[in-house]
Amino acid sequence: MDKYDIFTRALEELKEQGLYNIIRRIDSAVGPWTVVDGERVLNMCSNNYLGFANHDRLKQAALRAVEEYGVGPAAVRSIAGTMRLHEELEAKLASFKGTEDAVSFQSGFCANLASIPAVVGKQGVIFTDELNHASIIDGCRLTKAERVIFPHRDAEALTRSLEEHRDAPVKLVITDGVFSMDGDLAPLPQIVDAAEAHQALVLVDDAHGEGVMGAHGRGIVDHFNLHGRVDMEVGTLSKAFGVVGGYVAGKREIVEYLRQQGRPFLFSSATTPADMAACIAAVEVLEESDELVRKLWDNTWYFKQELGRLGFDTGASETPITPVMLGDAKIAWDFSKRLFAEKVFAQAIAYPTVPKGKARIRVMMSAGHRREDLDYALEAFAKVGRAVGAV
Ligand SMILES: Cc1ncc(COP(=O)(O)O)c(C=O)c1O
Repeated sequence: MDKYDIFTRALEELKEQGLYNIIRRIDSAVGPWTVVDGERVLNMCSNNYLGFANHDRLKQAALRAVEEYGVGPAAVRSIAGTMRLHEELEAKLASFKGTEDAVSFQSGFCANLASIPAVVGKQGVIFTDELNHASIIDGCRLTKAERVIFPHRDAEALTRSLEEHRDAPVKLVITDGVFSMDGDLAPLPQIVDAAEAHQALVLVDDAHGEGVMGAHGRGIVDHFNLHGRVDMEVGTLSKAFGVVGGYVAGKREIVEYLRQQGRPFLFSSATTPADMAACIAAVEVLEESDELVRKLWDNTWYFKQELGRLGFDTGASETPITPVMLGDAKIAWDFSKRLFAEKVFAQAIAYPTVPKGKARIRVMMSAGHRREDLDYALEAFAKVGRAVGAV
């Protein structure tokens, strides 16, 4: 027995339970068709909602930024200066989202880790939806603040908890806007009403809302017309924006406080000039036209309707996130491998990303898919579904 045996055994257990992630290799740009493990396959699982991951205008902006600014910032921003591109992107994001200010981080995950502990402090209480994303869960774990987990999408239970903790000096309500694994929406108007009635702050994670919901993809706050009533919108630049990075947009005082107190801002180097320039271009494309957002939704409605017609259970999704519910993790992985043999790339998602017994294939729609691509995927789903007895 050596000190590595524990890991060998744990890996074997994961394999036995069907919970071992198969990580496939990508050998091309990510697009509707992508080279994966040496095969050109139809990509149905990337978060490339608008096709920005390989968009010409974003690529040109990134190349120009490398020429002008080089490849890295070589700095934590508060210690050795912040690049003009970071400031430019932050101003653009604030104006796009309709907020007072925005601050960027290295990822959406970091944005949650930065904002939750900084805002809630030690004396506060956090109210968090039970299905919130792992980065929110970890952000909460980084604080000594009390945590109240409210049932999924239950604004009434939240109201009762806020009432019970009415004397807490800081109350922070956190919810995903679009839930990342099920594609359902938070009841944000009711959540905001409850928070306002109890002097609580609201943080909404809009990772799957921006580029997707609201006019021109401005996000979930725009979708529900709640401008000015949500204190912090956490965003990612790695999904609809097609690049990498994260941000918090919201009230001026809070954003400025995060520049002073958000630990990933203070203790980790910034994203690269190429990332920032590509994101600036992404916001510009979205501001100029909503064509890609509309195409994304056309594809979404068509694909969901046809999957339903074939007899698949796509859960409670109201968005381009389309879970094909299969239950058992081994069945989900078998399904995914069979799809791959049909040249359709859609990974299985199992515990701990979703609860045990709720494994699924999470299909992600993109504006880059053509109608014939969707028909190709539907044919493969039908064939595999029949073969494994799912439909
Ligand atoms: C709801 C939610 N928040 C945050 C993140 C993290 O974003 P990033 O990939 O930029 O770290 C994700 C990504 O999976 C997400 O789904």
